[in-house]
This record gives sequence, C-alpha cells and structure tokens, in this order.
Amino acid sequence: MAIVIKTQEEIERMRVAGRLAAEVLDFIAPHVRPGVTTGELDRLCHDYMVHHQGTIPAPLDYAPPGYRPFPKSICTSVNHQVCHGIPGDRVLKNGDIVNIDITVIKDDYHGDTSRMFYVGEPSLAARRLCEVTYECMWAGIAQVGPGSFLGDIGHAIQTHAEKHGFSVVREFCGHGIGRRFHEEPQVLHYGKAGTLDRLAAGMIFTIEPMINAGRREIRELADGWTIVTKDHSLSAQWEHTVLVTEAGFEVMTVSALMPPPARTARADGRRTVAA
Ligand code: MF3
Ligand code: CO
Ligand code: CO
Repeated sequence: MAIVIKTQEEIERMRVAGRLAAEVLDFIAPHVRPGVTTGELDRLCHDYMVHHQGTIPAPLDYAPPGYRPFPKSICTSVNHQVCHGIPGDRVLKNGDIVNIDITVIKDDYHGDTSRMFYVGEPSLAARRLCEVTYECMWAGIAQVGPGSFLGDIGHAIQTHAEKHGFSVVREFCGHGIGRRFHEEPQVLHYGKAGTLDRLAAGMIFTIEPMINAGRREIRELADGWTIVTKDHSLSAQWEHTVLVTEAGFEVMTVSALMPPPARTARADGRRTVAA
C-alpha cells in the first residue's frame, strides 16, 4: 500500500493523539526513580491513559503477524535492552537508563513517542549515549520537508551516530502512523542521502533511532518481544511522530517537558518551523 497523505481533519486528530502520548511521558517522568518497578510504571501509565485521558494504550494486546500479543500498556527497555521491553517485576536501580515508549489511540488515531530517562545518576558514558541518540533523532527530523528523500533521514542519523563511535540498529525502523499503529513508509535510521521515497506534505511517520554503544547486532529474548544488544552494550532510543508540512515539518509529540526547538536549521540551510 502507498504512503497515506493525511487530510486536514486527520492531521488535527493526529495532533491531539500526539500531544496526549507526550503528556503520558511528562506524567510518568517524576516516578522514574530508584526502587520503582517497570510494572509499577506500566500500571501508572495505564491508569493515566485509560481513566484520565480517555485514550487506549495501543501496545496492550498488539499482535502483529508472527508475534504473540504484547501483554502490557507501555514498553520499558532498560540498559542493554534496545526496545519492546515488557514491564514486570524488575526494580530500577541507581545508574540505569530506561526508554519508555508510549503509544495512545484517541478518536481512532495513534500518537507514538519515547524518551530516555535517567534513574538516579547514570555514568557519563550512559548519559553521553542518551544525548547523542537524542541528537540523532533531531538530525533526522531536521531533514524532513517536501522533496527530501527518506534516505536523507537515515543518512543524517547514521552519520551522527557513527561520528561518536556508536552503531545504528538495522532491524527496526520508524513507520508511517495514523489509523494504524504501523503503516508505510518504513523509515530506516541508516542509509544514503537522495535514495528511497520522496517526502510530500501530509505524510506522517515516526523517527525513532535505536543507537548502541557497542556493536549493532541484536537478539530477541525468549519472551518473544524484548530486544537486547548481542554484546550487552548499552542502547538508547528516542521517538517523535512527525508531519511533513509545506514549510518542512511539525513534530506532533511535543509537550510541556519536551517542547519543540523554536526553529531548526535544515541541513540545506532552509529554515523550517517545528510545531
Ligand atoms: N511503540 C513501538 C514503536 O515505536 C512499538 C511497540 S509494539 C509493542 O513502534 F507491542 F511492543 F508495544
Ligand atoms: Co513507533
Ligand atoms: Co513507539
């Protein structure tokens, strides 16, 4: 199926879903502390989504082809876990880094965003990985505009990650999003500038680089979901949902704690407005 171009009405609904997803992360931030379990973070987010926001947690029972249903409402991926970590009895301890990935459904539309959180005081190396991964996400976002190529996004992310001696996970990518959680296009976080699909105003997709401190190879745990680095090196990820606009891009998953940079310079020197 081709890449969906959203109508103004769909874009307005995606703005609402995106903002709500980001607000779940704002809500959970103060709870991410040494001693809390990932299961407790899941319970708190679930209640906030269902009872406070009136949103549906998209991960709960999500079962793409070849997967068993995901058993929880959020993903929590700690230290060498790359993505899709299942919340449970694990107690977060001082020095951990954890990605929390939230996807809500509101009025049939999905908003998808994730951030890294520090538990207490992680090592300088761990914080550096999280910071560079954040910069990678923004380097990708800064490429977005009508006429750019999907490959421009991957190239910008890979270049920034490798400049710092880190590696890009290849097996998972960003994705179109709307009525469906995962739709076309696939947004690779590595690649060559000027390749793959051209972007057009009205497309909406996520950019969600997974960056490893060590080698890029991953493996899946026996739970059928959790992805970890093969070499046990730390991994980080950030995710925003992004709309292609006539001027460039609009980030749909901004919030009070994660505001858009007012103006972002595109690689080609044009200026674009972020949300
Ligand atoms: N939120 C993830 C993404 O960014 C997908 C999680 S699927 C789940 O695409 F079932 F694990 F929740
Ligand atoms: Co996503
Ligand atoms: Co996500």
